[in-house]
Amino acid sequence: MSAFSIEGLVGGYGAADHVVKGVDLQAAPGELVCIIGPNGAGKSTVLKLAAGLLSPKAGRVTVGETAIANASPQAVLAAGFVLVPQEKNVFGGLSVEENLAMGTHMRPALFKARRDAVFDRLPLLAARRRQLGKTLSGGQRQLLAMGIALMAEPKVLALDEPTAGLSPVAADGLFATIRGLASGDVAVVMVEQNALEALTIADRAYVLVDGRVAREGRASDIAADDDIRRLFLGGRKAA
Ligand SMILES: Nc1ncnc2c1ncn2[C@@H]1O[C@H](COP(=O)(O)OP(=O)(O)O)[C@@H](O)[C@H]1O
Ligand SMILES: [Mg+2]
Repeated sequence: MSAFSIEGLVGGYGAADHVVKGVDLQAAPGELVCIIGPNGAGKSTVLKLAAGLLSPKAGRVTVGETAIANASPQAVLAAGFVLVPQEKNVFGGLSVEENLAMGTHMRPALFKARRDAVFDRLPLLAARRRQLGKTLSGGQRQLLAMGIALMAEPKVLALDEPTAGLSPVAADGLFATIRGLASGDVAVVMVEQNALEALTIADRAYVLVDGRVAREGRASDIAADDDIRRLFLGGRKAA
């Protein structure tokens, strides 16, 4: 059974309610799935519709057996889906540890155990626990945003362009961390502009074009496809 499933998803913003025009996507437990595609294709919108930040016009989104499309934020979280948005995903005026506490603010009794589990998985956060969010580097900030999300112990972690604006070295480090987060019963669904790099670490990929899935398959197959490389990867030849 899929950890995460999107079927026939349609939706958008107000009058522009067909930005996403019928998307199907699955992620199995432990799988790292990436969504690539041109700017404006609707990648972020798919994640926002799935997370209930936007109301789908049609379609079904499930985490395990639980339907989450149109559910309340609390219900989406309880089902095990957490979205890390592209921007404004940490509190600059709070310390690393206080930011993590925001991830369990509804259930403060869980804070210490979950914080320690996050520190185990993301040791850099432990080393900087008292540092303010706004003083972190871009890559460290993305790690913290993932740490906040992990405080909810999600089954499905959705990341919107986690490496946007990072140096290639910082992006590589973050990709390695993300690869490690997709394991056990946790699936990761990642939207990425750094398509070639994302395809290198992902298990499977979806190519979104104009609100529809134009291609899907094993990430290595998508990365090796000449049409895909010409259209989305700047024509770089397969290594
Ligand atoms: N808040 C919004 N209101 C109206 N249209 C939007 C909004 N955000 C994005 N769009 C439009 O939806 C389309 C898809 O956007 P988006 O999902 O952000 O694309 P991607 O993440 O693939 O770059 C674009 O045409 C964009 O202009
Ligand atoms: Mg986007």
